[in-house]
Amino acid sequence: MSAEPIVKMVDIEKHFGPVIALSGVSFDVKAGECHCLLGDNGAGKSTFIKTMSGVHKPTAGQILFEGQEMNFNSPRDSMEAGIATVYQDLAMIPLMSVTRNFWMGREPVKRFGMIDFDRANSTTMSEMKKMGINLRSPDQAVGTLSGGERQTVAIARAVYFGAKVLILDEPTSALGVRQTANVLATVDRVRKAGIGVVFITHNVRHAMAVGDRFTVLNRGKTLGTAARGEITPEELQDLMAGGQEMAQLEGSLGGTV
Ligand SMILES: Nc1ncnc2c1ncn2[C@@H]1O[C@H](COP(=O)(O)OP(=O)(O)O)[C@@H](O)[C@H]1O
Ligand SMILES: [Mg+2]
Repeated sequence: MSAEPIVKMVDIEKHFGPVIALSGVSFDVKAGECHCLLGDNGAGKSTFIKTMSGVHKPTAGQILFEGQEMNFNSPRDSMEAGIATVYQDLAMIPLMSVTRNFWMGREPVKRFGMIDFDRANSTTMSEMKKMGINLRSPDQAVGTLSGGERQTVAIARAVYFGAKVLILDEPTSALGVRQTANVLATVDRVRKAGIGVVFITHNVRHAMAVGDRFTVLNRGKTLGTAARGEITPEELQDLMAGGQEMAQLEGSLGGTV
């Protein structure tokens, strides 16, 4: 794991009119690590990663990519730098084949000036296989895959096209146990391939399964960053829930929430 972060966000501030969505949030991700961004609904997680990926411009603060200050004006800018984002509502067309989805919006493979469908197909199959998914055929429709497998198509595509940083916005929140385990295994593979993963979740167990570091957001502010081994799942859960509020709630419900 290299010491220098690939992406470093410094004192990020984001206002939407009178709404302060982010205030003084700093966060970085290094090659080969999975840095989890946790927080309850409305904490500012999506806003934060949209700022990292050029969807939003920060109201104040700096974004450094490999040590250089960046001014992303669009998601395309961040993608060209090597930041890939996989959103929860995946931009995929269910009736279209896995191959078509894999290459969507990208330069097709060409041979003698013609699109080389055979190579597009075999590349898709082999990239999916690397992620632990054996497609029946490259023509298999994306709609026939499970939610976890669809996440994996999006992740495999980002990795194949050279992402240095992969941002996953709640990739496991709509999945069952088994599919979640598959996506977590995929995250682990991607990290081991040297990519920096930003994994957003409000599930402490999912974070603990793959995270190297953990940052908790609460109402647009960071509650700090801890490395694996420095924090227990209980402490992380407590932080996410705003600590005291949770203790009170537990008390009034007479048990563990
Ligand atoms: N485009 C927007 N305009 C106004 N307020 C927004 C916008 N996007 C997000 N917010 C507000 O910012 C806060 C954080 O939202 P969000 O980043 O989606 O949280 P999370 O992803 O952690 O659930 C919320 O109060 C939300 O209403
Ligand atoms: Mg969100």
